[in-house]
Amino acid sequence: MARRRVGAAITEDRRGSGGPAPLVIVSNRGPKDFVWKDGEWIPSSASGGLVSMLAPLARRPDVRWFCCVSEPPDAKRAAAGLFTTEDDQTGGPLPVTPVLLPSPVYHAYYGLISNEILWMLQHHLLNPNVLPSLDAERHRAWRDGYLAANATVADSIKKCCPTARAFLLQDYHLYPLPALLRRSFPDTPILHFTHIPFPEPSLMRLLPKDWRETILRGLLGADVVGLQTQGDARAFLSCCAELLGTPVDSEASEVEAEDGRRVLVRVYPASVDPDEVAETMASEAVKLARPWVHGLMGDLSIVRVDRADPSKNQVIGFKAFERLLDLRPDLRSRLRFSAFLVPSRTDLKIYRSCTEAIYQTIGEINSRFAAECGRAPIDVFYTNDRNQALAAMEDCDVLLVNSLQDGMNLVAKEWALVSTRPGVLVVSETAGVAEAAMGTGLLVSPLDLEGTAVAMSKALDMPSAERAVRLSAFRNRVSQWTAKDWLSAQLADLGV
Ligand code: G6P
Repeated sequence: MARRRVGAAITEDRRGSGGPAPLVIVSNRGPKDFVWKDGEWIPSSASGGLVSMLAPLARRPDVRWFCCVSEPPDAKRAAAGLFTTEDDQTGGPLPVTPVLLPSPVYHAYYGLISNEILWMLQHHLLNPNVLPSLDAERHRAWRDGYLAANATVADSIKKCCPTARAFLLQDYHLYPLPALLRRSFPDTPILHFTHIPFPEPSLMRLLPKDWRETILRGLLGADVVGLQTQGDARAFLSCCAELLGTPVDSEASEVEAEDGRRVLVRVYPASVDPDEVAETMASEAVKLARPWVHGLMGDLSIVRVDRADPSKNQVIGFKAFERLLDLRPDLRSRLRFSAFLVPSRTDLKIYRSCTEAIYQTIGEINSRFAAECGRAPIDVFYTNDRNQALAAMEDCDVLLVNSLQDGMNLVAKEWALVSTRPGVLVVSETAGVAEAAMGTGLLVSPLDLEGTAVAMSKALDMPSAERAVRLSAFRNRVSQWTAKDWLSAQLADLGV
């Protein structure tokens, strides 16, 4: 295979600054997220997954961060959804360049294609019983939304950064982007990292041929395709071989792109930053949250922290809790479930229905058991207050992560760093984090409601000494591969 040089000598910035050309991060979501405060959503520094892993790099002076923002949508859409605008993302300490998309384009790119189709496909949820089929409107959304948004991002980067040292492109919103940038930056190292599970060819075939080929060819514009797990890397290699017919070297984990370049396919499991987590745990905000959060949690507690998303499988998690209360009357007066439910993608009906189904399940369980438990056994916090969630994770007996599919699940890794009780992790086998948790957490199959109830029961009975041994093994693994390692391994493979 022809070998392409990755990590050419540091290019100079042709904008006249005389400094080195910037390293460019591109993601859909910018560094600001929203927290619910005093009855409204306030933009604030995001603390979750993708952003927390990239922020340390973004603080360096030679880095630029492009993200997509929407022009303010019409009143109806604005009322239904969380959207981020130029003003939300700029003005912070990080060098952010928002790429402004017209509201209908943003909605089609982010909502109708990225989240309703690609997210659902990659979490094995694309199913005509739940979601609409790919009709003419969806094809329009692909062309005039998803492809158009990627083209606008590429143009905006070319305009603002005539030279770049390297590109770090993030996630399923931006699959076509590596190939678009390759045309204008033939020698600049490009890495694309997918944070969510990568589909096998059989799943990918659910998408029209031209869509899936655009996705794969888009990714092959990069020098390095980064994925969360070995399974994701195998799936990507199989897709290239079976769906594009490109030569694949499985042993070396490389693909030959159609222009003869050798594309590396590499695994970089996402992780957390122990120093940042320790700092947050020592912060005033967590100190303030502790007393009332711990006060709510009762003698024994189960905690979950996730976005309200069909892939997170909250309904089965709560039904497993109900089954646990059926199986174990002895726990009823002592056990509480605290659910930190993060509002997500609320402009989409499937997300609103998901939240409704979760609330309905919680309501049914709470009314069924309120009398015997002495009060409603499930508390739900519908917000994204990470400080509260961390305070709860610190003191819980069980952290439940029963996602149907999950790229990694960084909540489980954060929990490994903060748990003091010590607690036990009950985790889905189909979450990327299951590999690191192997032999330490209790693994469950996500559809197995009965098995999940039994695992939580076992976890609650587990003696403290055994919990401590398991937690310490998991914590060591997390500490040995942090967000810094995730990033530096990518930069090393790019040669920058
Ligand atoms: C996942 C994705 C990220 C995304 C995050 C939150 O972790 O991999 O790309 O930013 O979910 O989703 P949102 O749609 O709110 O950005």
